Amino acid sequence: MYKINENYQKLPGSYLFSTIAKKVAAFTEANPDREIIRLGIGDVTQPLAPAIIEAMHKAVDEMGNAATFRGYAPDLGYDFLRNAIAEHDYKARGCDISADEIFVSDGAKSDSANIQEIFGAENRIAVCDPVYPVYVDSNVMAGRTGMYDREKEIWSNVIYMPCIMENGFVPEFPEETPDMIYLCLPNNPTGTTITRAQLQEWVDYANKAGAVIIYDGAYEAYISEEDVAHSIFECRGARTCAIELKSFSKNAGFTGVRLGYTVVPKELKCGNVSLHQMWARRHGTKFNGAPYIIQRAGEAVYSPEGKAQLKEQVAYYMKNAAAIKNGLQKAGYSVFGGVNAPYIWLKTPGNMTSWEFFDVLLEQAGVVGTPGSGFGPSGEGYFRLTAFGSYENTLAALERIQKQAF
Ligand code: MLT
Repeated sequence: MYKINENYQKLPGSYLFSTIAKKVAAFTEANPDREIIRLGIGDVTQPLAPAIIEAMHKAVDEMGNAATFRGYAPDLGYDFLRNAIAEHDYKARGCDISADEIFVSDGAKSDSANIQEIFGAENRIAVCDPVYPVYVDSNVMAGRTGMYDREKEIWSNVIYMPCIMENGFVPEFPEETPDMIYLCLPNNPTGTTITRAQLQEWVDYANKAGAVIIYDGAYEAYISEEDVAHSIFECRGARTCAIELKSFSKNAGFTGVRLGYTVVPKELKCGNVSLHQMWARRHGTKFNGAPYIIQRAGEAVYSPEGKAQLKEQVAYYMKNAAAIKNGLQKAGYSVFGGVNAPYIWLKTPGNMTSWEFFDVLLEQAGVVGTPGSGFGPSGEGYFRLTAFGSYENTLAALERIQKQAF
């Protein structure tokens, strides 16, 4: 008789955004006349930039011609894209990362879930709390998190680093020493971040502790402040302790296109074992390369036209972020984030739980957001709104929220 992976049985409920989608679908079915505004999942709404569409059309034509047709992509990524990433995301920022340290993938979600596979089951993970739920869930599936305490909503073998109003949403070094440290900066869901100097402290800490930092930079394009690092590799010593995950979803609107990459420096070693070689082995075995058309689209992100168009797109969403932040502040809410990230993090009014606020906001205002507790226990009492809606919908949602006396 076969056995299942029992670790899956430990996972409470369904994936956060699936739960929300189900709740919204039930509400819409019961209230077919209500018009819902969705500021829940961080999904983009603006169309792909013209430079990207042009590159995709050209690549499609190449695929229709025997002379330029491509089959399997190289498993680690086409050189044209790896070189463009190395040049624009790293060399231009003074970071020492070469093209062959970049592994192209179908997105940062899969990479952030898969990266734990190359680490031992006995490792102790540390996560910011609240944070993107994929880090913890994927480690639950791998059996690394111990048992779940339903009351406290915590895992016995996970080190939580609370990021709350009281500490300015800055993770503090934990009392117990972790082996794997997940940092998402700017942070999803709080929309807050730390300075370059603070990030350097984390790099120094990890090198001293013999820990690895898994650094998710999905929201890097939204950084507006000077003293915030765009890559962990801006920090001294990061090549011996860090892996960086990057996405094309938020900076270029690829949520439905799917493209990302992971940087594993060659100096990152556990004893004599190269993690770069391990990830290359894993990637080569389990992944057949992101599609040619999509990688050409990714290359266009770095063209002068692509860069200019995407700068405008990011500015569009950040205008939404500013509108939500200012509007909610005027309405008396305590509001965070929205300066270096497209997420607004607010304290729920009247001491409502995150899910209570989700329900009243949906029922009374017809606005969908994301309950903070879905991102970890310290998210309880908070709520996330995304700036990825259209400007019109964002203003309409804001008006609806302002009208409510919660
Ligand atoms: C979010 O809403 O937190 C993200 O969009 C989800 C994701 O990137 O997978």
